[in-house]
Amino acid sequence: MNLTTSYLGLRLRSPFVVGASPLCDDPHQARQLEDAGAGAVVMRSFFEEQLEPRPPPAASDAAPAFPEYADYQLSPAGYLRHLENLKETLTIPVIASLNGHQPGVWTEFARLLEQAGADAIELNFYQVVTDPAIAADQVETAMLATVGEVAAAVRIPLAVKISPFHSSIAQLAVALELAGADGIVVFNRFFQPDIDIEDLVARPVLQLSDSAELLLRLRWLAILSPQLRGSLAASGGIHGSADAIKAVLAGADVVQLVSVLLRHGPHVLTTLRRGLELWMQQRGLTEPGEFRGRLNLARCPDPGAYERANYIRVLHSRRF
Ligand SMILES: Cc1cc2nc3c(=O)[nH]c(=O)nc-3n(C[C@H](O)[C@H](O)[C@H](O)COP(=O)(O)O)c2cc1C
Repeated sequence: MNLTTSYLGLRLRSPFVVGASPLCDDPHQARQLEDAGAGAVVMRSFFEEQLEPRPPPAASDAAPAFPEYADYQLSPAGYLRHLENLKETLTIPVIASLNGHQPGVWTEFARLLEQAGADAIELNFYQVVTDPAIAADQVETAMLATVGEVAAAVRIPLAVKISPFHSSIAQLAVALELAGADGIVVFNRFFQPDIDIEDLVARPVLQLSDSAELLLRLRWLAILSPQLRGSLAASGGIHGSADAIKAVLAGADVVQLVSVLLRHGPHVLTTLRRGLELWMQQRGLTEPGEFRGRLNLARCPDPGAYERANYIRVLHSRRF
């Protein structure tokens, strides 16, 4: 069975990509992921704050922006060394990840990532805008400028991982492509803080996803798929082969996996791959390209299912 997939102009042997996370911190584990069938890996992010270190948050801050600041501090040199190690260990593409939100500090580091052998860069715009003086278009203008700067600095492809919290995702995705993005990762998954009612504090919590989170991604993959010329990756809620198949039907070129791998280990990739192969075999399909986007907004028999009409329909059809 041929699971070969094109993503960001790279030829991948399978659509299963290890998503940005600590999963590839250990090159030995990264090798196990490759052996289990990963088509590419995304490294954990290198944070903008690591390039322009800020003073640690004041002790009086109730909810510091970076509570475990020291935990993710790999120096720029350390990140580049780790990238080189992964390149020596793996034969599949290694995608470096940059995480930040404003133009200006990325360009040089992106170039160094390219020199260190990165096959592509994934830019993650993780931001929580709390300042009411900042308008939505300022946020997006800064994103587009950042993408433009990075794209102009390197020759390797660039993916942009966006959040679902934009007013017009379709317009933004098209604008990101025009600014130089070769692909869009749908979506970033924010970690929501919880409130401890005993100690009366807000605490960061890290919860792994489940398949319910996929539905938001399916809708937007389906909407974006006919609009974009570049690649689409699904990130969030892929836990079984059926989830991966749905994402590809909606229009994803690849599916990124994190929670499922953290929960079950690298060998779960083999199960996902076999499930996909079996489903394809039963339908006489020989490669993912034959069904990619088959249920996107333009090709699905009932496009209303992805639109406002679905909301009205669901509310009217269900008796409580
Ligand atoms: C422990 C952990 C670390 C993560 N680190 C990063 C990161 O460094 N950069 C990034 O873009 N996303 C990071 N993510 C988000 C994942 O790449 C992914 O988008 C998210 O977990 C949704 O996918 P999933 O449902 O397969 O877990 C991390 C997720 C987890 C659980």
